[in-house]
Amino acid sequence: MKNTVAITDQNIFQTYSRYPVVLVKGKGSKLWDAQGNEYLDFLSGIAVCNLGHCHPAVVRAAQAQLGRLIHVSNFFYTEPQAALSELLTRHSFADRVFFCNSGAEANESALKLARKYSQDRGHKKRFEVITMHDSFHGRTFATLSATAQKKFHKGFEPLLPGFRYVPFNDIAALKRAVTPHTCAILLEPIQGEGGVNIPDASYLKKVRQLCDEHGLLLIFDEVQVGMGRTGKLFAHEHYRVKPDIMTLAKALAGGLPAGAMLARKHIAESFTPGTHASTFGGNPVAMAAGAAVMKTLLQGDVLNNCRMMGSYFMNGLMALKKRYPAIIREVRGKGLIIGMELNRDGREIVRQCLRQGIIINCTMDKILRFVPPLIISRREIDHCLSVLESIFTKL
Ligand SMILES: Cc1ncc(COP(=O)(O)O)c(C=O)c1O
Repeated sequence: MKNTVAITDQNIFQTYSRYPVVLVKGKGSKLWDAQGNEYLDFLSGIAVCNLGHCHPAVVRAAQAQLGRLIHVSNFFYTEPQAALSELLTRHSFADRVFFCNSGAEANESALKLARKYSQDRGHKKRFEVITMHDSFHGRTFATLSATAQKKFHKGFEPLLPGFRYVPFNDIAALKRAVTPHTCAILLEPIQGEGGVNIPDASYLKKVRQLCDEHGLLLIFDEVQVGMGRTGKLFAHEHYRVKPDIMTLAKALAGGLPAGAMLARKHIAESFTPGTHASTFGGNPVAMAAGAAVMKTLLQGDVLNNCRMMGSYFMNGLMALKKRYPAIIREVRGKGLIIGMELNRDGREIVRQCLRQGIIINCTMDKILRFVPPLIISRREIDHCLSVLESIFTKL
């Protein structure tokens, strides 16, 4: 273990503050470290392993594909790409999919498409995209510029021009920010990194109306909250609002790197051959895994479990809030993305949980974020709640 930590720290960029734990194995909701210690995973690789670690359907599909064909260029067709694209379009608002490798790359693609579509329509001066305070869209220059959080910008200025920021869930501010230069509005239907922020029931509908009134594209970043995380396949389904473009990544391929940008046909047509590309985008192994993820989610049991366990967990966390009002300010979430806002720094609580075998996360310093695999059980939730309570009692 020491060797792995030392070698990593010596040789890899220090962009992550890592816990001194070397994880070697995962199954379902559990992870094991190099010493054989067991952990219950309430983080899922940050909302990636939605079906749990090494889900048999994902492993089977990826293994079979690995032995057949690992990579070819996008100059050719492959069966796994066709299969996953069809599953995605059949079960979403979209007609076309562009495959890439990550959330940032999917958002980068969406931002490029929004500009290209506007230019193709003759709107040469429409290039601005409005995004939300506390959003998170990625670390490339365009997605970093889209991310309205100063702490991520520091040291990288000047950012890419063409972004305006407004508060999330504030339709009046959004209306005021629209100018003749606006081409799109980009937002997470539920903010993840920004602290699990849930919009008012009618907010997204109003955003859709505003886009329709001004001919703007509505882009939903569902990188974190898509693929079943909220109890529906895509988070925007809760609000009965359809975007023009949607981005996915994280849980899309069950832990293999994959991203996707989905759009309606007349918008997708702005990307013609040669306008955009990705060497690894649509990699056959990742696509085979993604098709297995989609089929498993569509079968229904996992989404049902997400909804049931989501409300069970939420009730348990609310009960903790009642018992520890001095520590806990608010609990909010949908399905199995839940944030517990504290009145104090949460990072020490995350470390204490880890020492007791529970992996959770803290975002925005004070918000404990729970994103367990969607197959989590009542017993596992009870265990997490009792560990949390044991920590709160001592505070
Ligand atoms: C909503 C959202 N968009 C985009 C990203 C960036 O994804 P990636 O790290 O795969 O580039 C993230 C990552 O946390 C995210 O939560």
